[in-house]
Amino acid sequence: MHSLPAIRSLGEKLAPRLGEIRRHLHAHPELSGQEYQTSAYVARVLSSLGLQVQEGVGKTGVVADLRGGDEPRLAVRTDMDALPIQEGTNLEFSSRYPGVMHACGHDLHTTVGLGVAMVLAQLAPLPGPVRFLFQPAEEIAQGAAWMINDGAMEGVEGIFSLHCWPALPAGTIGIRYGGLTAAADDLEIVILGESGHGARPHEAKDAIWVAAQVITTLQQAISRTHNPLRPVVITIGQIQGGRAGNIIADRVELRGTVRSLDPATRADLPAWLDQVVAGVCGAVGARYDLTYRAGVPTVHNDSRLTQLLESAARQTLGDDQVVVLPEPSLGAEDFAYYLSHAPGAMFRLGVGFKDRPNPPLHHPRFTVDETALVPGIVTLAGAVCNYWST
Ligand code: NI
Repeated sequence: MHSLPAIRSLGEKLAPRLGEIRRHLHAHPELSGQEYQTSAYVARVLSSLGLQVQEGVGKTGVVADLRGGDEPRLAVRTDMDALPIQEGTNLEFSSRYPGVMHACGHDLHTTVGLGVAMVLAQLAPLPGPVRFLFQPAEEIAQGAAWMINDGAMEGVEGIFSLHCWPALPAGTIGIRYGGLTAAADDLEIVILGESGHGARPHEAKDAIWVAAQVITTLQQAISRTHNPLRPVVITIGQIQGGRAGNIIADRVELRGTVRSLDPATRADLPAWLDQVVAGVCGAVGARYDLTYRAGVPTVHNDSRLTQLLESAARQTLGDDQVVVLPEPSLGAEDFAYYLSHAPGAMFRLGVGFKDRPNPPLHHPRFTVDETALVPGIVTLAGAVCNYWST
């Protein structure tokens, strides 16, 4: 069996080349669904390693197999897309494309995926088959579904992934058992009243007043009718209505996001929202139209696979570099879609600089400490080797 220290020294030897790859990807970011250059680049590197490569899986995704043909497989998924943000880091390898930036670290994720392929290709013959999924369009929560529809999960019995995390210092790995990220659903409520003169409200049904009541009641009711240990966040982020200051509005549109961690709580939310909105509107004779769109489900880490990540990180990096995270995040991650096909686990890769402030993900000055590359690669490569040997 391959020793994990050997994996670590392989990873360290590759570090300079991986740094160059990451900088190339960082300088050439592409938006969700448009990862043409990125996927062609990824496919070239993977082909040169001798993997069996399929391009155009899930539109701009790439699937590559080590020991293709064999099943069941273990999968490693990394995402490749960038964000519509103007980069403000002043790095020498800043984005060359105005208004597009790798502000979520997917350049680093892609590089980690390539690094794991390089390490495992050198360890061949592997004790079991591994499939690499280079996914497009994570930022619009669609790429995972595209890849699954194109068969990327066929024969896959377990899947690993990672996301960088600036709140943890580079060199560390954040592990979490159970819930890692939230379900994220969309909410749209249209309040329908009756227009009238601003001077004579009693002759109208004021949709703006009703909308204000709906927003306030939702925030109060969620705290009084839901178990506070099973959190739900409702944010109304957009409100539109009315025509002039002296005309009573007959229509107001509210749009929001609903985040939750517990699947049973989530299942009850559409009916609960309808009940609250119906109550408020009914009291004043207004009508409404409520649309609840289920989005990405929660990422629930499988305990066996999480254990494999944790022990690989402890063996390659040392116990003091592994942080067991006490809390999930209410952010969302489309890795969740793979988990309805196979158990999986995702970890947080520390990318923070120790000696300066670290802007958050999706910030124009977000950047990563590249020394995180090797810890990310050896954790995944080690977990894959341990998977086939236990
Ligand atoms: Ni991201």
